[in-house]
Amino acid sequence: MSVAEIFETMAYGPAPESAGPAREWLEAHGPALGHYIDGRFVPSADGATFEDQDPATGKPLTRVAQGGAADTDAAVASARAAFTSWSRTPGHARARYLYALARMVQRQARLLAVLETLDNGKPIRESRDIDVPLVARHFYHHAGWAQLMAEEFPHDEPLGVVGAIIPWNFPLLMLAWKVAPALAMGNTVVLKPAEYTSVTALAFAELAGRAGLPPGVLNVVTGDGRTGALLVGHEGVDKIAFTGSTEVGREIRRATAGTGKRLSLELGGKSPFVVFDDADLDSAVEGVVDAIWFNQGQVCCAGSRLLMQENVAPVLLDKVRARMELLRLGDPLDKAVDIGAIVAPVQLERIRRLVAQGESEGATVWQPSWSCPAEGLWYPPTLVTDVAPASTLAQVEVFGPVLTAMTFRTAAEAVALANNTPYGLAASVWSESIGRALDVARGIKAGTVWINCTNQFDAASGFGGYRESGFGREGGREGLYEYVRPSWEKRAGSASTPTAQGKPSGKGNGHAGEAAASQPSRPLPAGDVVSQTAYLYKGKPGPGGAPVLRDAAPDGPDSDGFAAYPPLDRTAKLYIGGKQARPDSGYSRAISGPDGAILGEVGEGNRKDIRNAVEAAHKASGWAATAAHGRAQILYYIAENLSARADEFAARLVALTGMSRREAMAEVEAAVERLFTYGAWADKYDGQVHATPLRGVTLAVNEPIGVLGLVCGDRHPLLGFISLVAPAIAMGNTVAAVPSESYPLVATDLYQVLETSDVPGGVVNIVTGGRDALARVLAEHDDVQGLWYAGGDGDEGSEGARRVEALSAGNLKRTWVLDRPAARDWLDAAQGQGAEFLRQATQVKNIWAPSGD
Ligand code: NAI
Repeated sequence: MSVAEIFETMAYGPAPESAGPAREWLEAHGPALGHYIDGRFVPSADGATFEDQDPATGKPLTRVAQGGAADTDAAVASARAAFTSWSRTPGHARARYLYALARMVQRQARLLAVLETLDNGKPIRESRDIDVPLVARHFYHHAGWAQLMAEEFPHDEPLGVVGAIIPWNFPLLMLAWKVAPALAMGNTVVLKPAEYTSVTALAFAELAGRAGLPPGVLNVVTGDGRTGALLVGHEGVDKIAFTGSTEVGREIRRATAGTGKRLSLELGGKSPFVVFDDADLDSAVEGVVDAIWFNQGQVCCAGSRLLMQENVAPVLLDKVRARMELLRLGDPLDKAVDIGAIVAPVQLERIRRLVAQGESEGATVWQPSWSCPAEGLWYPPTLVTDVAPASTLAQVEVFGPVLTAMTFRTAAEAVALANNTPYGLAASVWSESIGRALDVARGIKAGTVWINCTNQFDAASGFGGYRESGFGREGGREGLYEYVRPSWEKRAGSASTPTAQGKPSGKGNGHAGEAAASQPSRPLPAGDVVSQTAYLYKGKPGPGGAPVLRDAAPDGPDSDGFAAYPPLDRTAKLYIGGKQARPDSGYSRAISGPDGAILGEVGEGNRKDIRNAVEAAHKASGWAATAAHGRAQILYYIAENLSARADEFAARLVALTGMSRREAMAEVEAAVERLFTYGAWADKYDGQVHATPLRGVTLAVNEPIGVLGLVCGDRHPLLGFISLVAPAIAMGNTVAAVPSESYPLVATDLYQVLETSDVPGGVVNIVTGGRDALARVLAEHDDVQGLWYAGGDGDEGSEGARRVEALSAGNLKRTWVLDRPAARDWLDAAQGQGAEFLRQATQVKNIWAPSGD
């Protein structure tokens, strides 16, 4: 070809990267790579290995050890042993280690990039210019957090041994996302890479050892899903950090339920790429290329749904097709290649199957005119049009280079379409109107929204999902909370966990009334209530020493202290949508005091009542948009009204639980103060502007989670209830709350307080009844976004917690078990309120908005 012709065609010549040093590394460590345990390579205990292929050629690359139980045991034991000293290593010393890892990644950047490309099939341009630099950046950034931990997390400590399970699409980067924060916070790690891409994790571990990381701090056990499952089930593991498919995420949620293992899940997505008619369309096209053809579309946050404003759709699609013709697919080691190989035959098959299914549902499939190489695993960039919002290709994560295009007319329609999948990982919004872009960004349910850009990542900013894309964040300050726990948990330990007999064995957690929790409650037909409080004495102890109930006092006592009239019957119903509602079951349950005397009845809530409560809570979702100042005012108002009736609530607590009047007053006062605390926080728990390299701003916004199910325990029934409801609503959530099963009357007394405090109907819904039966319904409910489960301290409670966590796997709602490993002392502000509650009541959305023309 002449120079003139080259100028005409602008064709690229081949520009291959040498694979020599990487192949030498593989040879030196072969023929089969071992696990990296306790600072050295070891083969599987049973000698099992499997073949690892180069996706670009389909030829064997190396062999990898298949980890079994003995291997995971050895790795966990090594990590456990190393934890003792690593967790006590001063932050500054850990910072030096992490700094050394960052430097080491930079020194070995080319080796790591080439190994990654050989193993995964991604273009060298990406592994060299994106993956590996971001890995180094992660270790630098987290070296800083190790340095600052004592100052910035003074009330937290490491979790212990972290089991990290990662996918094959960004093998080294996902390692960094988990290992860097885990080590920075003083944890040790057992990492299981994906079976298709184990090589760089092993290379990294070896290099880390060479950089001085003590043996056992980072272990790598290779193998397939069976090895992952062994790690998940291992008793010596304190936390599982998982990135991968939603199905496996669900399995892991179920497998860890009730074990007390902490869990973060970063799962799939079907991210929208929204283009308005005022967008710079040429920039948007480049954005599309980056969104869906980066890493062959094998990206959890790939912008796989192109949503176009109808009037610009034809011109935008023409531009996209023209650009697709120019994409270069081929040898991933070629520096001029845009699209590499698909990681494994099974993934290629999955892409083909899903596209064929889309076609059979009526979709039109367009691919560029050039063809893929004959050898290796390839799939061309693909544009799909004529799809209905509910069709397979609009809903299912393809995890390949397949773009589904749809249109919308208005911004509201764009948001509705964007949110029309169960996922919520990321989104990209293109418009030259910043007001519109920010508004749409706020409306889309996703953990990350990029405005006029896409696929921006940085260690300083959190990344993670809403809804079925998982929970927890990786990166930034928000990501660190996944690797620490409050120090009080360990101090309180099991010593203060009430025993199975229901008696607290530690100080301050609970009271004599706890034992009453085990009393069976009798369901009675509703409306057939004979109030047994009617003849309680006033001013003296009641029969059998029962305490006095002020609101049981009849109108006008006679001189000898007996009631002149029986008190007016007050039957507590449920509280749904701002109104009292009869229980669907038509039954009520009798609530007795410590002496067995029946103090009143409450509705026996069931599945239908919970459904109604959740529906009412959704209808009140406008609460999230109420200004924080407005929410604060209402919390203060509840406090004011509760305070005005403090005596009455204290008397109720005394009657229900048998606590002393002084204790009861202290509980009411603490509840008033707690409401003030969250009134104060409502407009102060705001976000951050992260210091990322973007020219512009990366805004970390705390958003409510949606509808929260709150299940209360019996300890401090008023304060426990307020301690859950107040932070939840302060942050803009609406709630379906199940109050203390044994002492619900103190919550039903709150109905009037809520009504007189201007709480909008549906913001707080209260369903009384059998706690675990109702918790189960909340856990199974697909339209509940989060579930907090408190109390239930004995074995029964541990089974309840397990069930809640297991059942939440359906829609992968966030769960929070509050009284494990130690029962919380609600009167202690360090345990009963504060940042932990606010974090649980919110999810962080990071909005990236570049500046400049
Ligand atoms: P996967 O979820 O099966 O694999 C991810 C990791 O989990 C791997 O290390 C695997 O060995 C491990 N694993 C598998 N089963 C396990 C179990 N029962 N317990 C513990 N660990 C287990 O994902 P896979 O099969 O590689 O890909 C299937 C689909 O998942 C893709 O087509 C894509 O849709 C999605 N995916 C999403 C990713 C993301 O980043 N969100 C990453 C990888 C896959």
